[in-house]
Amino acid sequence: MKILSVTSEMYPLVKTGGLADVAGALPLALNKLGVEMRTVLPGYDPVLQHVTDAQPVLTIPSLFGEEATVLDAVVDGRRIYVVECPGFFRRAGGPYADISGQEWPDNWLRFAALSKAAAMIAEGAIKDWVPDVVHAHDWQAAMTLAYLRHGQSPTMPTVITIHNLAFQGRFGFDIFDKLELPPQAWNVDGVEYYGGVGYLKAGLVYADAITTVSPTYADEIREHHNGMGLDGLLNGRSERLNGILNGIDNDQWDPSTDPHIKKTYTHNSIGQKQTNKRDLAARMGLDKDDSPILVVISRLTWQKGMDLLAEVVDDIVRSGMRLAVLGTGDRMLEGAFLYASDRHRGRVGVRIGYDEAFAHALLAGGDGILIPSRFEPCGLTQLYGLRYGCVPVVSRVGGLADTVVDANEAAIAAGAATGFQFSPPDTYHLRKVIDRFSKIYAKPPQFKAIQRAGMKTDNAWSNSASRYIALYENLIEAQSQCSQTMPSAPASKKVESRSKSGLQPS
Ligand code: ADP
Ligand code: GLC
Repeated sequence: MKILSVTSEMYPLVKTGGLADVAGALPLALNKLGVEMRTVLPGYDPVLQHVTDAQPVLTIPSLFGEEATVLDAVVDGRRIYVVECPGFFRRAGGPYADISGQEWPDNWLRFAALSKAAAMIAEGAIKDWVPDVVHAHDWQAAMTLAYLRHGQSPTMPTVITIHNLAFQGRFGFDIFDKLELPPQAWNVDGVEYYGGVGYLKAGLVYADAITTVSPTYADEIREHHNGMGLDGLLNGRSERLNGILNGIDNDQWDPSTDPHIKKTYTHNSIGQKQTNKRDLAARMGLDKDDSPILVVISRLTWQKGMDLLAEVVDDIVRSGMRLAVLGTGDRMLEGAFLYASDRHRGRVGVRIGYDEAFAHALLAGGDGILIPSRFEPCGLTQLYGLRYGCVPVVSRVGGLADTVVDANEAAIAAGAATGFQFSPPDTYHLRKVIDRFSKIYAKPPQFKAIQRAGMKTDNAWSNSASRYIALYENLIEAQSQCSQTMPSAPASKKVESRSKSGLQPS
């Protein structure tokens, strides 16, 4: 089976969050199970710097007026197609914003360009390779499905994965004319969304299957107060909506081999974390003592509940624990944490910025990782926390609810507890859960049992990759049945009838 993945970021080339981890790990996991996934990615500077031996395989003389070349490269076992288009992608700054954090005003065009190039590749523009399924991630890649649906010929089945419904790619109606889509795409069953253009919305309408990154989030987004305007559409297509939990790359996140940590360890040698803890304390300017260290590795945003955390920092300090924060995001929240580290020298350490290697050191040295998210489609840092014996303290939402077993009495007695959950995400319940953590930390046998159970949890990608494979297979099967029964249906009808085939992704 051949799958074309379309994404705006991918580890190890370009990463702003969990999407990159997923887009980077899934092809490797699928590959191990005999499925080939190639990935279309924008040619940002860091990507081009990495793929110096890439070969041009396609020239697009005018991609919305810009000349583009598709480069074929392999990065640590991942086959990628880089859309090199300097006019859109070679800019000083990040994938979505300039250095000051201001979003690029032409993001609508940049990601339409990525999607259009991806659709061309899917339709066979590169010699000798046509995918069986196209898999787009988030709004930045969602328009691939629009270009495929309104392309020249009937195409392969498509999947869209929602990593975060809060980011939808909504733009004014005036861009529609410039998207090079036929007039019929301007439709409530097309790209039109509340009078403007909705990229994610279009992807959700056109996809043969919709996935999101945890079962609980798949349920939550169908509720009015969590659906962010798309709950109606998601309910209408609920038979095609599936929650498939993210996995983690066990090779990249492995405390027994991790080159970024002071001392490697396993669940049988958790005591070795002490060396990492001392190292972390020194690097963060924290006091040298035996008190617990709670860590944070996060975007500093409202979604992540970082304002709630900023409010309880004093309580954490009062309870005798230390806090180490690595993050970047809202300027106000960055300021709030910096101010806290000033007020509580030695007890609160803060590093504003993005530092992949240091994230590993925090997990290795931390006793607990705080994730008080208001909503969390999946969350990866709790999974990394589990693997590193850095016990997750999480709000009971989305993927956090699905992956952490709360240390209640029954779970502790059964040896099943792996972390701490609280609900709802507010300061009152956050304070209470931190207190609960502190009390159990004070009982080393209990606390170590929780650490060990977490470290033994299997969150490798293989399980989830199998679920994606089953989904792809179902889609291919449904399409082939459909084309056998309706051989002469016109392109758009053909796709529609496929959509009504009663297909039940696994
Ligand atoms: P999200 O994608 O919503 O930000 P996830 O938990 O899914 O949340 O993924 C976040 C990813 O980004 C993880 O790999 C985490 O380690 C990483 N990360 C977040 N903030 C930082 C930071 N400041 N420095 C290094 N890594 C970070
Ligand atoms: C998004 C979500 C996060 C998820 C990640 C990868 O960034 O916010 O919860 O883990 O995507 O799917």
